[in-house]
Amino acid sequence: MISLEARNLTVTLNGRAVLRDINLGFQGPGLYFVLGQNGSGKSTLLRSLAGLIPFEGEVLLNGIDIRKYSRKELSKAIGYVWQNPLYGFFESTVEREIKFILRNLDLEQTNRFEEVIKHFGVGNFLKRSPFSLSGGEAKRVCMCSVLVADQQVYLLDEPEGELDYQGLEKLIDFVKSESKRKLIIIATHNALLSYKMRDTTERIFIIYNGEIINSIKPEDLLSNNSLVKVGIVPIQWWLS
Ligand SMILES: Nc1ncnc2c1ncn2[C@@H]1O[C@H](COP(=O)(O)OP(=O)(O)OP(=O)(O)O)[C@@H](O)[C@H]1O
Ligand SMILES: [Mg+2]
Repeated sequence: MISLEARNLTVTLNGRAVLRDINLGFQGPGLYFVLGQNGSGKSTLLRSLAGLIPFEGEVLLNGIDIRKYSRKELSKAIGYVWQNPLYGFFESTVEREIKFILRNLDLEQTNRFEEVIKHFGVGNFLKRSPFSLSGGEAKRVCMCSVLVADQQVYLLDEPEGELDYQGLEKLIDFVKSESKRKLIIIATHNALLSYKMRDTTERIFIIYNGEIINSIKPEDLLSNNSLVKVGIVPIQWWLS
């Protein structure tokens, strides 16, 4: 079992409460979604669950306050794939970018490098600068550069952004198979992605204005007509 839990989690940025008193539990292995409109607090929530920003309240990984883990232990346990890949790249080549985390966390013995570059189809541009990539290529490299470390928890921030049909299929296959042994939380404004993955999803949490206001069973997603009230494009809108 893997567990990640937020207790009375509050985040204040520049004097504004961006997350307010969030109480939320995730049990793994399994897949969860956090759905919310732009600015609702999804990225801030994932960053605080990963221990990357200061917060009030508690975040517990497997029952232990994440502030008790060293930075390295936490990075080995939780992989956060940030929303905009270009914010995180800093190496001179794609290969170095993907291998950085292995060097940094002393995981160079792992043989996952070949597996992830093959799965996400980034083998052809290993020698390129990550800053020269197209949007979708950058997104795929960004996924590889974190998930190559095989953490027990994956926090994926809008992972579908910029991906084409093939990229989406690769992402969905990867998440489906990895969620059998990991805890995966996807934050997105895109209800279609959660609908597409409803058969492998445990629960969908709705975030609005920094608060978790609802929790939806995946099978109720299509019939739920409260999404539009919180600024999430309902699935029917795409089809109309
Ligand atoms: N450093 C900061 N100072 C002030 N406000 C901030 C800061 N960082 C984020 N915010 C604000 O906090 C709110 C939540 O931001 P967050 O990035 O978590 O939203 P989001 O749900 O991920 O949105 P999106 O769908 O656009 O990615 C937004 O209104 C944002 O402008
Ligand atoms: Mg965001």
